[in-house]
Amino acid sequence: MQVNVVLNQTISKDYVVYIDELEKLVLDTKVMVVTNTTVADLHLQAFLARIQAKELHTVILPDGEMYKNFDSLHQILNACFEHRLDRKSLLIAFGGGVIGDMTGFAASIYQRGIGFIQVPTTLLSQVDASVGGKTGINNSYGKNLIGTFWQPNAVYCESAFLKTLPKREFAAGVAEIIKMAVTFDAEFFTWLEQHDLHQNEHLKVAIQKSVMTKANVVSQDETEQGIRAVLNYGHTFAHVIENQTNYSTYLHGEAVAIGIVMANTLACKLRLMQEDDAQRIKSLLEKYALPTTYAIPSVEAFYEAFYLDKKSANAKIKFILAKGIGGFEMRNDLSREVVLEALREMHA
Ligand SMILES: NC(=O)c1ccc[n+]([C@@H]2O[C@H](COP(=O)([O-])OP(=O)(O)OC[C@H]3O[C@@H](n4cnc5c(N)ncnc54)[C@H](O)[C@@H]3O)[C@@H](O)[C@H]2O)c1
Ligand SMILES: [Zn+2]
Repeated sequence: MQVNVVLNQTISKDYVVYIDELEKLVLDTKVMVVTNTTVADLHLQAFLARIQAKELHTVILPDGEMYKNFDSLHQILNACFEHRLDRKSLLIAFGGGVIGDMTGFAASIYQRGIGFIQVPTTLLSQVDASVGGKTGINNSYGKNLIGTFWQPNAVYCESAFLKTLPKREFAAGVAEIIKMAVTFDAEFFTWLEQHDLHQNEHLKVAIQKSVMTKANVVSQDETEQGIRAVLNYGHTFAHVIENQTNYSTYLHGEAVAIGIVMANTLACKLRLMQEDDAQRIKSLLEKYALPTTYAIPSVEAFYEAFYLDKKSANAKIKFILAKGIGGFEMRNDLSREVVLEALREMHA
């Protein structure tokens, strides 16, 4: 299966997302594969055997979001210099979203930008992070605050890699799939209710559907001036939860699941969504054992924390809300009182 990501040619070139089509990668350049210790132990040898290149190098970084930082970026860039990669050389990101974001960032700044290929190995990175060209690292001020828009030359999603993924990581990816279905595709949502993604043939369909949705959104709005922000449905709440729990209690996708339920409570309050649709979404999240509740320690503190999120431009909080199932509405006009009321309801 293939999905084309069509972009505004003045910024970036189009590219193809291949789903379960990676047999052999033949590249007439120097190539450096960037991965982490976990993915290297499980899959690197088999993956390298499929690559044919002028020279093939690897960088193996430590595993974890806490290593999505300048040190790791330095390691990637230093390896590029050490192996004398030139402007035609390619980086390959072989791992989850952390490796994908860092490798893309390194590719975007090495000698003013070289090409890179995404080979995402988590469900979250296959359906979301690897497509769309957002790259970056974290620093002490927050997540992904340093980075670039730099599109990959190609993306290869292989469902076979997902067989070794821990259960929670799998479910975290499903949360992002559900996110896209709720906001953009009612039919896909109904299909998700009827099919179990633990079965590989269904999983492949869901990956393809999600990639198509993401590709469609990114082609309309590569640099997030408008509709791309809808992909942050559930995220305004999730970022606060992740922050309040020191990024250690929940995986990102798990926090997104809770955030989706919270956003829906607000949407119901504003009569954008009916209770039974909110219940359908909650049930689907629960089917994958995703968390859907969070005991808010203080609703006022939770509200104030929205302002820490970089996505709240000009101190106006932009809420991405689902309008029923299959639609969305962006609202930056909500009063503090109405949001606090909804937060109190969520807390109950
Ligand atoms: N660029 C974007 O548009 C975008 C979108 C969403 C998320 N992100 C970023 O992506 C990151 C989250 O990505 P993630 O959820 O993939 O996390 P991750 O990269 O940390 O991977 C999760 C865990 O799974 C392990 N893993 C990876 N592949 C595996 C496999 N096949 N089998 C077993 N274990 C495997 C990893 O080593 C890691 O321990 C965050 O840093 C987030 O900011 C970026
Ligand atoms: Zn997300």
